[in-house]
Amino acid sequence: MFQKLLLLLALVLIYCSNKNSAIITAIGFSILGYFVTNFLIPKVGPSFIKIGLFGKDLSKPGKPVLPETIGAVSAIVYLFVVLSYIPFIFYKYMVVTTSGGGERGNVIPSHEESLNSTIFPHDRLCEYLSSILCLQSTILLGIADDLFDLRWRHKFFLPITGSIPLLVIYYVDFGVTYVLIPGFIQRWMQLTASTIDLGGLYYVYMAAMGIFCPNSINILAGVNGLEVGQSIVLGILELLNDTLYLTLGSKQARAAHRFSAVLIIPFLGVSLALWKWNRWPAKVFVGDTYCYFAGMVFAVVGILGHFSKTILLLFIPQILNFLYSCPQLFKIVPCPRHRLPHFNEEDGLMYPSVANLKDEPPKSWFIPILRLLNCFKLIQLEFDDKDKSKIISCSNMTLINLTLVWFGPMREDRLCNRILQIQFLIGLLALFARHAGGAMLFGHDNLWT
Ligand code: UD1
Ligand code: MG
Repeated sequence: MFQKLLLLLALVLIYCSNKNSAIITAIGFSILGYFVTNFLIPKVGPSFIKIGLFGKDLSKPGKPVLPETIGAVSAIVYLFVVLSYIPFIFYKYMVVTTSGGGERGNVIPSHEESLNSTIFPHDRLCEYLSSILCLQSTILLGIADDLFDLRWRHKFFLPITGSIPLLVIYYVDFGVTYVLIPGFIQRWMQLTASTIDLGGLYYVYMAAMGIFCPNSINILAGVNGLEVGQSIVLGILELLNDTLYLTLGSKQARAAHRFSAVLIIPFLGVSLALWKWNRWPAKVFVGDTYCYFAGMVFAVVGILGHFSKTILLLFIPQILNFLYSCPQLFKIVPCPRHRLPHFNEEDGLMYPSVANLKDEPPKSWFIPILRLLNCFKLIQLEFDDKDKSKIISCSNMTLINLTLVWFGPMREDRLCNRILQIQFLIGLLALFARHAGGAMLFGHDNLWT
């Protein structure tokens, strides 16, 4: 009954948006996206297993086999949603504000008028299509990874090809490559300029974001529900930020954040459906396809919405996880294929998993750093019984294992929830710092000006 009511609500929203409120249309379509994804996942799961797309749930008794790459279903439904509401979003622009075929040029609203209305201006269509193109290529790369288990050095750099359309559109539409210099640095260095032009480096930075966001979600993984859960938390935080700008921001900011909300709302719809099947006890795995797709959605809105630095603030937990992982990613400390926590069948709890340093010792210069981290409880070391100075293992360097080191062993679902709560809290603080601290550092915050 509730589901039927929700479906009815989706249709009413799409109808009542009267084809000129992009956000209401997005909400309607996102509810449809939720239902379609939720319907398809249990239907296609067995077919995925049949063609070899499956994985063992390593943290359950007997390691049951589950369909893998199911995130591809969410990603493809998302593409259908964002493609099919193009006519709705641009309807008024196409017909109502023009006299129709052949005479559009006479009455196309100026850029200023477009910003005033609730529909998108024309140049937004171009940005919108390039975003879809970027997401499509990222999803293809993700599927290739899930099918062929690509090497890390390839996985790391492949998303860059997906970001090329974005960078080109950024170059044509904005071309802004300068960043503000905080007031205290201006005063301290007695600078007359309040900005610094990064030129080509700004494009390198944006391309790096296209690499970082997808991969950082993929390495904060290994607990049921965590890949999708962290993406949902990121989506909610971003939507919160969009809401602030849509209610208080300038016309320019409202247009950028409307664009972001229109991409994030359906992302939340398809992700919530996936989370229903991937949360503990998982019935499906999301695969690398979903991680890349989710990360790229945030990179896209950050780059084209021109608020990539705010997006990076929301990614603080993923940045910390990446930095913490670096010694293992760069093979200074051995990195096992899986770093997910160790499941103890006897008590059903998760314990920090370890890297064996006895057979494969870390680089000698890093040993004092490991000891220091151990002193601050930032890692768990195990020493040889006979020779107490010899380290025989260390906990794998992920935020998931660190949470277990700090809070002790816990059940998989509680571990996932704890990490998501911490992520949400950090995200809220980051948003607060962005708007309160931004005003202090730069003399003003773009939310109010
Ligand atoms: C990344 C991590 C790896 C982690 C893995 C878990 C790095 C460098 N790599 O590798 O340490 O173990 O993700 O996704 O940090 N699985 C579970 N339970 C879950 C999720 C996954 O048992 O809740 C297992 C399943 O066997 C599944 C496999 O992990 O088949 C998926 O691993 P995959 O996504 O291919 O690993 P990577 O992304 O390469
Ligand atoms: Mg993965």
